[in-house]
Amino acid sequence: MIKLLYIFTKPVPFRKHSSKQTNLYHIMPALEVRNLKKSFGDVQAVKDISFSVEPKEFFGLLGPNGAGKTTSIRMITGVLNPDAGSVIIEGTDLKKNFLEAKMKMGVIPEVGNIYPDLSARENIDLVGRFYGLSKATREDRADKLLTDLGLKERADDLTRKFSKGMRQRVSIACAMVHEPPILILDEPTEGLDVMSRRLIVDKVKEMNRKGSTVILTTHNIEEASRLCQRVCIVNKGSIVAIDTPDRLRKTTEMMQMVEVAFDRKVEQAWFLTGYISRAELCNDKWRFYADDLDKAIEQIVKVKEEQGVKILSMSTSGPTLEDVFVKLCEVH
Ligand SMILES: Nc1ncnc2c1ncn2[C@@H]1O[C@H](COP(=O)(O)OP(=O)(O)OP(=O)(O)O)[C@@H](O)[C@H]1O
Ligand SMILES: [Mg+2]
Repeated sequence: MIKLLYIFTKPVPFRKHSSKQTNLYHIMPALEVRNLKKSFGDVQAVKDISFSVEPKEFFGLLGPNGAGKTTSIRMITGVLNPDAGSVIIEGTDLKKNFLEAKMKMGVIPEVGNIYPDLSARENIDLVGRFYGLSKATREDRADKLLTDLGLKERADDLTRKFSKGMRQRVSIACAMVHEPPILILDEPTEGLDVMSRRLIVDKVKEMNRKGSTVILTTHNIEEASRLCQRVCIVNKGSIVAIDTPDRLRKTTEMMQMVEVAFDRKVEQAWFLTGYISRAELCNDKWRFYADDLDKAIEQIVKVKEEQGVKILSMSTSGPTLEDVFVKLCEVH
């Protein structure tokens, strides 16, 4: 019974790539999404999205609640049929060759799918069996995953007794046991404590270093900014931007800011010339906004010398990915 249930809910067995496939892996995108659409009644959850992810890339799908991230991931992983469009996994069309495409993925869905009446080790072993791994390989990998994910001491307890964070770590281990070339994770660290979050992130980073492509959905901007090489921002079912976190910050033409504390009162009018386009007082510090930070600082220094005031502190900051995210999602 468990086996039957498993076949319908878990990824299909994974076989080792032939050398021919391995070569292809290096020259074609790991994932291509073409004109994907999905509606639920009147709700257009995904409106026509296309993007491609390079092999070994750490790619983020970032968007607010209800943006269409999970719907996209469910179509990409073959759980949900799209209304239109196609998904190509390492050159294999998911619709035309479902099993072959599924074999290349390790999936951590938004809602975990481990078996509560099996122990952590049994869950991992079961997945390993369905992916055709030998007993020795299954045992080795289960040991390493359980250790790396901080579950070694609870390895033989039933997962129904586990906390949310522990269950999520078992789910991650199950998705990784066949060492898939593509890992797809839907909000893997949502609602977890710092320890669980770190264990999971470190393990995913290790898989990425070893060559797996990672596709991660999140609404945690800081996490996306820190982990992802490229980020695709989705809002209301559409893509609003795809780029590196750095370029996203730069290309949105947002102002840079320099914050200065002076030793005495200054006049706003002294600074509102030349390179500084806006000046505002925030608590006891002045915030000056400019496109060119270097020129703005030169100007501030010149003014303070002319007026005979001293600078007590100065700090600069560019737009954060959060500023970009809010700006893009407001506009669209
Ligand atoms: N099975 C479903 N039936 C009806 N509507 C759905 C279904 N799944 C998703 N939706 C709707 O599609 C839209 C996108 O939902 P989705 O779960 O893809 O968003 P999300 O970006 O993953 O959000 P979150 O960050 O909250 O997980 C929402 O309006 C949601 O209500
Ligand atoms: Mg979701």
